[in-house]
Amino acid sequence: MALDSFDSAVDGLLAEARASLQSVDSLEALEAFRIQFTGAKNGALKSLQKLLGAVPPEHKPAAGKRFNQAREAIDQLLTEATDKVSQASSGKPKSSTGPLVDPTLPGLRPRIGVLHPITQTLEHLKEIMGRLGFNVTEGPEIEDEWHNFVALNIPEDHPARDPLDNFYLATAKTNLPKSSTDPQPAGNSGGADIAARLLRSQTSTVQIRVMESTPLPLRIISLGRVYRPDAPDATHFPMFHQMEGLWVDKNVTMAQLKSVLRLFATSYLGGDVNVRFRPSFFPFTEPSVEVDYWWNGQWIEFGGAGMVDPNVFRAVGIDPEQWSGFAFGLGVERLCMRRFGITDIRDLYRSDVRFLRQFAS
Ligand code: PHE
Repeated sequence: MALDSFDSAVDGLLAEARASLQSVDSLEALEAFRIQFTGAKNGALKSLQKLLGAVPPEHKPAAGKRFNQAREAIDQLLTEATDKVSQASSGKPKSSTGPLVDPTLPGLRPRIGVLHPITQTLEHLKEIMGRLGFNVTEGPEIEDEWHNFVALNIPEDHPARDPLDNFYLATAKTNLPKSSTDPQPAGNSGGADIAARLLRSQTSTVQIRVMESTPLPLRIISLGRVYRPDAPDATHFPMFHQMEGLWVDKNVTMAQLKSVLRLFATSYLGGDVNVRFRPSFFPFTEPSVEVDYWWNGQWIEFGGAGMVDPNVFRAVGIDPEQWSGFAFGLGVERLCMRRFGITDIRDLYRSDVRFLRQFAS
């Protein structure tokens, strides 16, 4: 190919590109322009490059130079076209192409999680008891027999200690090294195997831990999970939560226990709630009561309570002649279910978000 013809091919291409640029007014047209002139397969520049191959060797340098100029010119035109389109879309959208983004369309809603009803209940209970002056403490879920039974005045032959009624950890006796933190009960160990471990069956364990480590007087609550090998049904589950309360001071009375539990119940369940105290027995309180509320035509027990038994005080080295106290343990699930109108405890632990979402606060 002669150099002249190559030159005129370049001129033709540039003229065509300038002309096309006039009509580029949208992203689609811009893309078409880019493909038409710089497309890697069939773009006009590509064809020009092929023509370049046919130019005789002596004219190659001059033709190559022109080719490079043409390529730069096209790049320049492409940049101008891009600017033109972006200016157009940032100003008033042209009716022919429509806006690039339609701000009137509804957006995508972010899916925000909700707190589990039990978590909400735990927070609510802490808030109510906090206003009554109770500090929040915590204890471990894996316990030794001293804290779960012995110090709580539960003798070895008591049915509550039956291995069939507790989740003992199978490896505890053989594998756990006897550490210096293992409790060393003074005098009679009450049959405690101090290396044995179990999942705590009640939060009353925390009463002992707190009295072992906190100066008196004290007023605490402790909320957490407890474990019992119960077959699940509408009102039982092998894991549930309790709120333990303990008040130790000079001259604490049963009347104060009653006031605190009544204040708590009306605060959490509403002023019209019917609460009753029923004489009962717990090894770690004397006297003891069971606390019920009226729901759906029947009395539902929501916890136990009583005055701290002198034997419990003695186990932790507190003089029962000087100090007195009350303790209570309430079932958190039952409180939560009553408040939210949930009738099957298993619904709380099926992890069905369609169910749980209903209780978003
Ligand atoms: N720990 C008892 C239970 O789980 C409840 C309780 C706590 C009773 C404190 C009296 C005092 O049933």
